[in-house]
Amino acid sequence: MKHAEKGLFISFEGIDGAGKSTHIQATADAFKAEGRDVTLTREPGGTPLAEKLRQMVLGDAMDPLTESLLVFAARRDHLTTVILPALERGHVVLCDRFTDATFAYQGGGRGFSLSTLTQLERWVQTVGASFKEPDLTLWFKLEPRLAAERLASARVPDRFESQSEQFFKAVHNAYLDRANAAPERFAPIDASQTKEQVWDQLHAVLKNKKWLKL
Ligand code: TYD
Repeated sequence: MKHAEKGLFISFEGIDGAGKSTHIQATADAFKAEGRDVTLTREPGGTPLAEKLRQMVLGDAMDPLTESLLVFAARRDHLTTVILPALERGHVVLCDRFTDATFAYQGGGRGFSLSTLTQLERWVQTVGASFKEPDLTLWFKLEPRLAAERLASARVPDRFESQSEQFFKAVHNAYLDRANAAPERFAPIDASQTKEQVWDQLHAVLKNKKWLKL
């Protein structure tokens, strides 16, 4: 059955401490206020199996290939059982992180092979004859030093959040490379600004695309 509204797949990215969480919720509320159905989800995670894999990835030490395989296994389950069916139903799917995070954290941060990640990306995101990826990636762009300052006061760090500033510089640079390689998909948001200004930028991107009306 065809739905009146076309599904939209939007991912949210950025280094830890960039402040994307509150804005994901606000984006969900804005779409709902305009009558859209929203699926709010996250990676690694979003399904019972993928949430189990998330616990392992965030909690247990492992080599970078193992880590990448678990993250992509979680992604395959999430994509096929939650994201694609929701898009079919015409939902706006808002996903807290997707494959760009793997290139940033496992590729940049851990220094794992980008060509292996590119192959995994192809395998995992090809469903039937087509390659699936977000229609838009809202990238919360923030200097690693500022992100570290914000995080220091915030919470008990997980296995990634406790990494060095050098790790986060590499994560940041890998996001930059991904953004430069796909400028039509990436919308950089200056996350150093106030919460209100960050929201205004994000809102303007969605209005420009005519995905939000008000
Ligand atoms: P995060 O969105 O920061 O969750 P929370 O706000 O609950 O801490 O994501 C958890 C961590 O997972 C984050 O530090 C980045 C990491 N991560 C990867 O290393 N690779 C990936 O592919 C994804 C999706 C996340």
